[in-house]
Order: sequence, then C-alpha cells, then structure tokens
Amino acid sequence: MPSRTGHRVQSLDETPIYSRPAAGTRIGIAGAGGIASFAHIPAYLQLGLTPAVLFDNDPFSIDRALDAMGDAPRPRVFTSGRQFAEALPSLGLDVLDVALPSPLHHAFLTELLDVCGSACPPLLVQKPLAQDSGAARDLAERAAALGVPMAVNLNGRWVPTFRKARELLARGLVGPDPLVSFVNRGLNRKEGDQWRSRLPRLIAYEMAVHHVDLLHWAFGPVSSVYSVVRNVGGLGVDGDNVAVIVLRFASGAVANLLEDWACRDDGVWHYHPDAEQIVVSGPGGTLVATPTELRVTTDTGEETFTTATSWFPDAFAGPMAEFLASLAEGRESELAALRHVDVLRTLDAVYESSRTGESVRLESRTEAAR
Ligand SMILES: NC(=O)c1ccc[n+]([C@@H]2O[C@H](COP(=O)([O-])OP(=O)(O)OC[C@H]3O[C@@H](n4cnc5c(N)ncnc54)[C@H](O)[C@@H]3O)[C@@H](O)[C@H]2O)c1
Repeated sequence: MPSRTGHRVQSLDETPIYSRPAAGTRIGIAGAGGIASFAHIPAYLQLGLTPAVLFDNDPFSIDRALDAMGDAPRPRVFTSGRQFAEALPSLGLDVLDVALPSPLHHAFLTELLDVCGSACPPLLVQKPLAQDSGAARDLAERAAALGVPMAVNLNGRWVPTFRKARELLARGLVGPDPLVSFVNRGLNRKEGDQWRSRLPRLIAYEMAVHHVDLLHWAFGPVSSVYSVVRNVGGLGVDGDNVAVIVLRFASGAVANLLEDWACRDDGVWHYHPDAEQIVVSGPGGTLVATPTELRVTTDTGEETFTTATSWFPDAFAGPMAEFLASLAEGRESELAALRHVDVLRTLDAVYESSRTGESVRLESRTEAAR
C-alpha cells in the first residue's frame, strides 16, 4: 500500500477475467426479450459467438433480437414451445440460454427436461431459477438426475470491481468480522401490464438476488436473517419494492442491505446497475465498491481500482464463458444450480422474517452438502 500522499489508481481492464470459448460453440436462447436483446446477445457477440437458435412466442421480441444480432448469420427461429422442445435434442446446441420471465422458469424447464430427457443440452438459466428455493431445488435435482448440467446466470460476479473486492477480502485486507453496508437506491416505476408488475415477491427475487448472491460469494453461508419487506404504493407494482435486510454470516461478517426502488430524490441514488455501493469495514481497513470503482483505505494509504466496462452488457459474458469452460473441462460450474438454491433459501428467510417480525436462523449446511 503506498503512502497517503502516493494515492495509486489502477485500471482493472488489463487483466482478462474470463477465457474465450471455442469458436463455433452453438448457443440457443429461449426467451429473446429485453435482457436477451440488451445484454445476452451483445455479450455472446463480444465472446465471438452468434446465437444459432432463438425461441420466443412474441414476433416483436424475435425482431428486436435479430436487430441486436446486426449482420451476424441468421439463427433458426421457433415460436411454438412444443415444437421447440421436440426439436431441441437435434439442434446440436452446446448450451441453451434461458431468459424467460422468471415465473415461467419452473414449468418451462420441467417440460423441457421431460420431453428431452438426457438429450437436453446444458442449461444456463437467468436468475432467479424459480420463485422459491424448493422449486429451484426440484429443478436442480431433476437436471442432475438426467446428467444435464444446469447453471444460473449471476453476472454481478463478473463486474471487475466486485471481483477485485472479493479477491482483496479473501486475502484478509479488511480483517476478520467485517461490517458490510450495501445500498441499492433509485426509482423503479412500472408502466403497463408487464409480468414484474404482478409479481408478489419482486424486490428480493428479482433484485436483491444479485446482491445476496454477491454477499454469499464473498462471505459464505448466511446464519441468520432479519428483514422488513414492503410495498411503497403509486409505482405500478402489486408486490414489494423496498427491503431492509440484515444478514449475519457464519464467517463472522454482518451485512445491512437496503433495496429501495421508491426514492424520488436522484441526488441520493446508488442505483443498479451503474452505482449500487458496497462499504466493507474491519480492523484492517475499509473497502468501497461500485460497479465502476473500488477504493481501499487503510491506516497507511489509499488505492483505487477502476473499470471502463459496464455491468450491462459486459459482465454478462462472464457466466457464459465460465459455464462453457466448466463444460469443456468436465467440472462443476461455479454457478451450478444447486449452489444458487442456497441464495434462494436466504431470500425465503427474508420473506419469513418480514412476515413474522422475527429473525430467522439458517442451517449453515449448504445444499451441495445435504
Ligand atoms: N442482471 C440480470 O442478470 C437480469 C436483468 C434483467 C432480467 N433478468 C432476468 O431475465 C429473465 C427475463 O427478463 P426480461 O427482462 O428479459 O423479461 P422480458 O419480459 O423482457 O422478456 C421475456 C421474453 O420471454 C417471452 N415469453 C414470455 N412467455 C413466453 C412463453 N410462454 N414462451 C416463449 N416465450 C415467452 C416474451 O415474449 C419476452 O420476449 C428474468 O428471469 C429476469 O429476472 C436478469
């Protein structure tokens, strides 16, 4: 660490954080909607891959996805779910990327696994895998029983500043029993009748899932949860849109997570995906991370790490590359579905605590160890 006067600024963009998959890898996308067009397709193109198959029941979505592909070769397109499921084993896909509305994931994936059996290609599914941890476990176990690798697309882990923060924490830079404050504050007003507007468990299952995943990834299993989850009215959603969540980790860390989608004053925003803020303090120093900057301050100096990349779409290439690498190397993916079930158990405890007003203790045993 340099002296206080020698404040060093380093770019994180010189060191690659994922490897490029083999050219010619065949990707299919089921659910070619907003995030597929805005982030998945650009990320595959960044990796040198062109989606070979698109499935979506809305022709508008298909057109938008084709636009996102620019002048890349045209994919084969399906608009009927049954025809797609029956054709899937013969499409020669290396991975099927699933980005349907998350309330459909369980039924869609169950049918796909029933129809295709062990001929189903490996599945990279958007978060959350299902609407509760039990349904997610059911999917993870069905896929495992058929020998179909299944992973969950948790792209926050490939935001370079968050990745570096985890590395420094693992090296002990902040020291034991850190105190973590995580703020995601902005205004998320829903217009029209989109599926998220009707989702009862919105803020934790659609939003906090990213941040709780990052905290699990950095600090390990959660031992207890206390939370308050609410709906702030007038913003076009039936479900919850704000949450205060306190997590204690078996490792000794404690985190206070604020998810606020109801803040009209943009002067105090720390808003996903550009500016949520994590502060970690401990005896060794303080670390402050946003998706674009990481600052580390100790008693002897200060160091800043920056990235010119953005979470959307750049970080999306990370899970895709990691899952493909795990398949090529014949190992379990870091994003294996069963590991995600641990995160969803924490989110279920968030809802239980908010409902009962009590803190909820969680077994430290992970799903994989059961
Ligand atoms: N940071 C992230 O990783 C991130 C960001 C946004 C969304 N997501 C996740 O991605 C998933 C999709 O979100 P989105 O914002 O793209 O939603 P979206 O509504 O924009 O897209 C969903 C697509 O699925 C299609 N669809 C709906 N029902 C269908 C059916 N029965 N058969 C075939 N196609 C159907 C729709 O036509 C639409 O094109 C969700 O799980 C969401 O949580 C992740």
